[in-house]
Amino acid sequence: MPGRSEKPDAPSASKLKEVRRQCEELSASIESLRAYYEDLLGSLQDGIITVEPDGRIRSINQAAEELMGLSAQMFHGRPFEQVFPNDRSLRELVRKTMESGRTHADFDARLTRQDGSHVVISAVSSLISDGTGQARGIVLAIRDQTGIRELEERLQRSDRLAALGTVAAGVAHEIRNPLAGLRGAAQLLEGEPDFPPALSEYTSVIVKEVDRLGAIVERLLSFATPRGPVLRSCNLHEILDSLLFLERVPLDAAHIAVQRQYDPQLPDILADPSEVRQLFLNLIRNAAEAMSDGGDLTVRTRYERSAKRCGGRSVAVAEILDQGSGFDPEIERHLFTPFFTTKEGGTGLGLAICLRIVEDHGGAMEATSSPGRGSTFRVWLPLAKQSEAVSPHNESWGTA
Ligand SMILES: Nc1ncnc2c1ncn2[C@@H]1O[C@H](COP(=O)(O)OP(=O)(O)OP(=O)(O)O)[C@@H](O)[C@H]1O
Ligand SMILES: [Mg+2]
Repeated sequence: MPGRSEKPDAPSASKLKEVRRQCEELSASIESLRAYYEDLLGSLQDGIITVEPDGRIRSINQAAEELMGLSAQMFHGRPFEQVFPNDRSLRELVRKTMESGRTHADFDARLTRQDGSHVVISAVSSLISDGTGQARGIVLAIRDQTGIRELEERLQRSDRLAALGTVAAGVAHEIRNPLAGLRGAAQLLEGEPDFPPALSEYTSVIVKEVDRLGAIVERLLSFATPRGPVLRSCNLHEILDSLLFLERVPLDAAHIAVQRQYDPQLPDILADPSEVRQLFLNLIRNAAEAMSDGGDLTVRTRYERSAKRCGGRSVAVAEILDQGSGFDPEIERHLFTPFFTTKEGGTGLGLAICLRIVEDHGGAMEATSSPGRGSTFRVWLPLAKQSEAVSPHNESWGTA
């Protein structure tokens, strides 16, 4: 064009300076935006994992790191499938979202932590797309559901216990009188002058079986119509010792060695001693029954300050560990359900009674197991003196 130079003018020094300043401003605002999003992700309670379209992990926030028990550096840039080899439901979620572009959720997924333990989580995977609708990857939001599941289970258990208690009380009441009648009739028969002695074997079977049924009915009644604990301050170790003393003969006969690991500074608990005896008797008998080839039965206690499981109260924790058969996850789900038993002749009420006692005391209990290697039954029972237990003078409790 006439009057116009062919070559563009060389940028002036001041223009260059201006462009440079703008670049610096831009890079500072990008940096601050990046820091803002990092802070945002870091402060979220939910775990957030982002995955590139090629399936590699791009980022992971702190909550997800904590949930998985891993550091983000360990799997940044690695394929998602490799980082979660044991969590099929998560891999499926991400795959489905990649394929369909739609959001998918699983509210009962399982996450395997670095240490091999499992956490129940809810997981939602959604597509990240840019302004043009082009897929830029996946965002997976995960949330720990353990507390909620435990609460749900406890509520369900309490409901089941209450309903079954009412039924059991009615049934037990109806059975008691006829049983007494049967027993009396069998004894009267035996007392008849012309009763053939050869038949006394049968009447004694009747009496024996009626007595067995009677014991089951009594157990049912004690389960169904609890009298409510009469609480007082008592020493847990004394209760455990007297129980172990009484059980020593059957335990010796079964080649079971008792190991006591007591916290010597454990304060008194607030409990009904006869109910606590019943609780630990059931647990010790179960442990012994699970160790058909003998082994170690460990009774361990410790102090725990502000136990989450007991509404932040200070508690005594008692554990009964055995080296017996253990139980698989399927059995674990039914352990505390009344009438659930895997034993011939078992009533399946032992653990249901334990749970009722523990809950009546404001405590909690749980069971864990390595199938084939043994089980641990753990009980939390509130202490008698809450204020004393949390005072600074007692800081050392539980460390003995
Ligand atoms: N220490 C343990 N090791 C392995 N399995 C156990 C243990 N304790 C309980 N169980 C399992 O839980 C089930 C229920 O136990 P629970 O004490 O309620 O009833 P039970 O022992 O079968 O019968 P009962 O207590 O009336 O004799 C048992 O049948 C067993 O399968
Ligand atoms: Mg039992």
